[in-house]
Amino acid sequence: MEKKKYTKPKTITREELERALLEANDELSRANEKLNRQSRERTELFRNLSHDLRAPMTALVSTVGLLREKKNMGEEEYMELLDLMDRRLKNLNAIMDEIFLLGQMENPELQLKLERIDASVLLEEFYYSCEADIKYAERKLELSLPDELHCMICVDPQKIVRVLDNLFTNALRYSQIGDAITLEAKEAEKGKLRISVKDTGMGISAEDLQHIFERSYRADRSRTPGDGGHGLGLAIAKSIVERHDGRIWCESELNKGSSFYLELPCVEL
Ligand SMILES: Nc1ncnc2c1ncn2[C@@H]1O[C@H](COP(=O)(O)OP(=O)(O)O)[C@@H](O)[C@H]1O
Ligand SMILES: [Mg+2]
Repeated sequence: MEKKKYTKPKTITREELERALLEANDELSRANEKLNRQSRERTELFRNLSHDLRAPMTALVSTVGLLREKKNMGEEEYMELLDLMDRRLKNLNAIMDEIFLLGQMENPELQLKLERIDASVLLEEFYYSCEADIKYAERKLELSLPDELHCMICVDPQKIVRVLDNLFTNALRYSQIGDAITLEAKEAEKGKLRISVKDTGMGISAEDLQHIFERSYRADRSRTPGDGGHGLGLAIAKSIVERHDGRIWCESELNKGSSFYLELPCVEL
């Protein structure tokens, strides 16, 4: 029988052991800090959402109360109250829709409905769908698509349009009459489609810029009810883009404007 070769067990010096323990300790502290941060973000999210939901709900309850009390209301006043209720219901519906989509995108089991699409076709269709809003909001919208852009992407079109829609709505919301909005696309580097939505609006401060993709973050923290934004749009956009193996970022200067970029992988033609 062959004799087993003896190998001396590796000895660990006291210093090595202490170093390993310190490293493990550091790693645990980092994991703990991450958990605490996530828990703080979640608490903040619930607080902001319940605030945003409560405002239109309370207003609806009081409008219904008014309708009950005032039995002999004139038709004009009655119609005004109905319009008010309609706006508040739409506002509630928009929040519920965003909460639902955020939940969907954070669910790793969700399957995207992927389709191969010509990027130029998707962007042109999106551009034409914005025309009415642009006219109504009195902004200028430009589309810049190079003729040589032949880029196929494999995406869930509804979800990507949702991202574009959020960037476009933000560009409208955070700019003024006469400001310009540009929708642009190019192949930034081989195999990567870069879409940008640029505006010449109010811009974002360097401090806010670090947080805008967080759930429920709004640079304007007054959270006035009825002004539309709930701070979920960019968090949703980020999850959608990342689920497509892409990335999204923003460059901005206060009082000059903002440029949002999203990059998606192109697939074989
Ligand atoms: N184009 C933009 N110009 C200036 N600020 C912007 C722009 N887009 C987003 N922001 C800032 O980022 C915040 C988060 O955006 P978003 O998640 O879409 O939420 P909101 O529902 O408030 O639009 C906004 O509240 C706003 O402060
Ligand atoms: Mg938004």
